[in-house]
Amino acid sequence: MDRTAQLTARVTERGIAYDPPSSSPPPAPSAASLHVRAARVLAANWTGGSTVPSRSLYPHQWSWDSAFIAIGLRHLSPLRAQTELETLLAAQWADGRVPHIVFSPSVPLDAYFPSPDFWRSSTAGRPAGAPRTVQTSGIVQPPVHALAAWLVHRADPVLSRARGFLARVYPRLASWHRYLLHRRDLGGGGLVSVVHPWEQGMDNSPCWDGPLARVTPAPARSFRRADLDHGAAGDRPTDLDYGRYVRLAADYRDGGYADGEGEFAVEDPSFNALLIASEHALARIAAELGAPGTARHARAERLTAALVERLWDDASGMFLCRDLRGDGPIRERSVSGLVPLLLPGLPREVAGALVGTLRGPHFAARTGLVPSYDLRGPAFEANRYWRGPAWFNTAWLVERGLRAHGESGAADSLRGAFLRTAGESGFAEYVDPDTGEACGAPGFGWTAALTLDLLHGADVARETGEEGGNRG
Ligand code: SER
Repeated sequence: MDRTAQLTARVTERGIAYDPPSSSPPPAPSAASLHVRAARVLAANWTGGSTVPSRSLYPHQWSWDSAFIAIGLRHLSPLRAQTELETLLAAQWADGRVPHIVFSPSVPLDAYFPSPDFWRSSTAGRPAGAPRTVQTSGIVQPPVHALAAWLVHRADPVLSRARGFLARVYPRLASWHRYLLHRRDLGGGGLVSVVHPWEQGMDNSPCWDGPLARVTPAPARSFRRADLDHGAAGDRPTDLDYGRYVRLAADYRDGGYADGEGEFAVEDPSFNALLIASEHALARIAAELGAPGTARHARAERLTAALVERLWDDASGMFLCRDLRGDGPIRERSVSGLVPLLLPGLPREVAGALVGTLRGPHFAARTGLVPSYDLRGPAFEANRYWRGPAWFNTAWLVERGLRAHGESGAADSLRGAFLRTAGESGFAEYVDPDTGEACGAPGFGWTAALTLDLLHGADVARETGEEGGNRG
């Protein structure tokens, strides 16, 4: 059986292919054609050393995009997947931070804002050890990288060992986690804080409305947005939001990218959950390299306890963000508060409550995907960036979480909804959570990559070594 036929058969047997119509032969695209189309998106977005999220809207390398993209690419080319992560990590700063954007010198300055001349990494970032040879932003994004590196390794351990992949990335990943744990524990309770909404990745979430309201926006005429050349204004943040993003980033830059002083400091459940998942992955990488991973697993467990203690909210049945410069818990329901389901070490009652919240009126959308924000929330907008639409990376994380907690029926449904909507939307950046209408950029990198990952249907427990709990 060739590879295409194998895939079709596997996916069909698992019951995650498209529902056949009752009276006519199934016209739905096969898993094999979905695979081919997703692979084409990744080929079109590949630049030779990394993959752009979108040729139009995001024409450089983005940090957490690259991690998700590597997770999908490993099924097409483990070598490209390894290279994707190595290219990103080569732009790491000496203080350990992995920048959220690595700029491509061949892309015109006005193709994306804020461009390298805004961030000025090689000058303003010198005190923090920004590299001289490549231009980057100075903020970070969620630490999905060690998890990605481990999954990429597992896709082809022979190639990985032959290239010394893990040995090369391990020190960089360890220093990345050290930066977060030592420089970003701004609340002193063990959790990591983000200092800009772009760091958390869900830029325009209603969770940031309160903290951002305190920030004086940069004057509208002091910058020119490039995103509106490519995305519909109704799908994107407003000019007022942008003014505040620019102010926060400029202040951070002008302080030499030193941590601790900024007006925005939030402990976010998704960011911290991804750090914990990556810390477990780093423990497995250490063990593979012959060093004990026990201390890292123990630290991940301590972080999980801190996450529950500081961010769990029993009344809403989910995790909430905590505003360190304001009044503490931010009472908005966002998908970020569901992402910790990813962690197998969560207390059973917390995991159970999260599953209940996913099924309840705030998050059960008609597409079967997970909306980025409370369907009943006052700030809900079906099309606007992170204020309601469903995204595919968060669906992938929640699907993994459901599987990790034995909810295989719900995980199968979410996987089916993901594959159907990703294909029908042309691998959109995000979709209306009820209609599935495509929003944002088409041909989006992580949508295509994670489609491939779900098509390949790897067994979560087997590939993460979680059979015996977290101590793989
Ligand atoms: N996601 C942000 C943007 O829209 C920053 O990375 O540009």
